[in-house]
Amino acid sequence: MPRITPAEIKSRKANGPAITMLTAYDFHFAKMIDESGIDMILVGDSLGMVVLGLDSTVPVTMNQMLHHASAVSRAVKRALVIGDMPFLSYQVGIKEAIENAGRFLKEAGCDAVKLEGGKEFSDVIRALVRAGIPVMGHVGLTPQTATSLGGFKVQGRDLNQAKKILEDAMAIAEAGCFSIVLECVPSALAELITETVEVPTIGIGAGNKCDGQVLVTNDMIGLFEKFTPKFVKKYVNLSPMIKDAFSKYKEEVKAGEFPSEKESFSEGQEVANLLRKALKSQAKTKREE
Ligand code: KIV
Repeated sequence: MPRITPAEIKSRKANGPAITMLTAYDFHFAKMIDESGIDMILVGDSLGMVVLGLDSTVPVTMNQMLHHASAVSRAVKRALVIGDMPFLSYQVGIKEAIENAGRFLKEAGCDAVKLEGGKEFSDVIRALVRAGIPVMGHVGLTPQTATSLGGFKVQGRDLNQAKKILEDAMAIAEAGCFSIVLECVPSALAELITETVEVPTIGIGAGNKCDGQVLVTNDMIGLFEKFTPKFVKKYVNLSPMIKDAFSKYKEEVKAGEFPSEKESFSEGQEVANLLRKALKSQAKTKREE
């Protein structure tokens, strides 16, 4: 089965249906997400926070991203797989950006890359697209530079900020992005950007007027407990269920209830009896010596 292409994603702007995207960081989750019919799987640098236990996405490296992206790609048959360019993998220069983005395609089996930033990265986006690497943009709250944006908070509430985000989205669409993530912006601004740019917008905390939606999987299934942003809906809350399973296992092992007959291999009694007898007779011989 061929994977969904960036061109198909672009065509959804006019024809619908709404585009769906989730993040994945390993083979098994990627397989489940793909089998659920989600259109795009992002190997996000949120990896740092929701899998590696880091406080931000800033320390995430190219090698960590490639390691996880390869596992995801191996599992995915239908969805478009996107590798997230980590901090300083594309900001230093165009040559480094092409080399690093190329590694997602060549070494990890991704179909496209995503990078954070507005018009200041138009030249990088243009160069990647020229090199044959499909690019998804990301404006609004950009976690890699959250500190300079005043923290993890809604962006584009005042006129100046809103104008900048709109202009950034227009510039990166013009530079060749096949779609743009809008993170943590007021719904009305996301609606205006969606009406204005020619490529699909994928919202996260950006209301329901975008052309598609993305959530961090570990947030929406309740696996990330440190904090829950307002825009996250928990479709299932797995952490308490998993902890409950671990506690039950501990109690059953302590009480000698696990493993039961059902989880044990019952054959072999005769062999054990013969060995026991042999051990006894060896011990007897030793005592008599
Ligand atoms: O890294 C990530 O998971 C992302 C999403 C929040 C879009 O960039």
